[in-house]
Amino acid sequence: MKRFEGKNVVITGAAAGIGQATAQRIAEEGGNVALIDINAEGLAGTKKLAEAHGAKAWVYECNVTDGARVKEVIDQAAEDMGGFDTLCHCAGILRTYHTHEMSFEQWHNIIDINLNGTFYVNHAALPHLLKNRFSALVNCSSTSAIGSHPWMAAYAASKGGVISMTRALYQEYVKQGLRANCVVPGGIATALHGDFKAPAGADMELLKGAMPFVGFAKPAHAASVIAFLASDDARYVNGTEVRADGGALS
Ligand SMILES: NC(=O)c1ccc[n+]([C@@H]2O[C@H](COP(=O)([O-])OP(=O)(O)OC[C@H]3O[C@@H](n4cnc5c(N)ncnc54)[C@H](O)[C@@H]3O)[C@@H](O)[C@H]2O)c1
Repeated sequence: MKRFEGKNVVITGAAAGIGQATAQRIAEEGGNVALIDINAEGLAGTKKLAEAHGAKAWVYECNVTDGARVKEVIDQAAEDMGGFDTLCHCAGILRTYHTHEMSFEQWHNIIDINLNGTFYVNHAALPHLLKNRFSALVNCSSTSAIGSHPWMAAYAASKGGVISMTRALYQEYVKQGLRANCVVPGGIATALHGDFKAPAGADMELLKGAMPFVGFAKPAHAASVIAFLASDDARYVNGTEVRADGGALS
């Protein structure tokens, strides 16, 4: 499939995991990619992987919590690429805490990266996306937003916010040709997932409902859903969420 031929795609969280796999998939399908992440070394690796598929790739080191910097790099990406019509926003973190013990700072850090970061990235990308007759954005939520995951009050709230925000964007911009959807991953074997640690003294039985019956999946299995949502194959899919969780919440 070459669904991204002639397309320019901005991808955040592109240094690792699902974002990196998304960059590879889009490059493999003929797209050019602007890669954004806080991790410069990882970005260089993803650039090489994308270029190996014949894609043009640009990298931008950026912390998504810095709204001014986000705007600067997304405007720069638009200039470097000659505009873009697709955004895949994957940057995010997961931390777990017993909620009554977590500090305000820990709460704000998760909300800042996952929810405010999504706003900054979408806000900066929208003027560029809307220059096109048709455009698409895909945000990364999580099964924690719609399931019941212990120790993740901040993470779940941030990812629930991502779904709500994305639906609002759909409604606001649908007449201007934007499609705005979320992927809802769960159990994808990435650093974020591998680093998952329940807080001290946690009752692991509480996590049962969050687990898929099948094994954990590869980043490519979430990237393929993102690529679908970002592509014209999803022409009639808008303002919604697609779960890639091995059926964990089914
Ligand atoms: N892996 C899963 O099972 C899973 C489940 C649900 C949701 N998600 C979501 O999918 C997305 C991708 O996660 P992943 O599993 O690939 O994790 P990952 O840790 O492999 O990749 C996340 C990327 O985001 C980048 N990042 C983190 N904070 C950043 C910041 N402040 N500014 C810029 N970049 C930043 C990291 O450097 C990294 O490259 C995240 O939004 C995550 O919440 C993943």
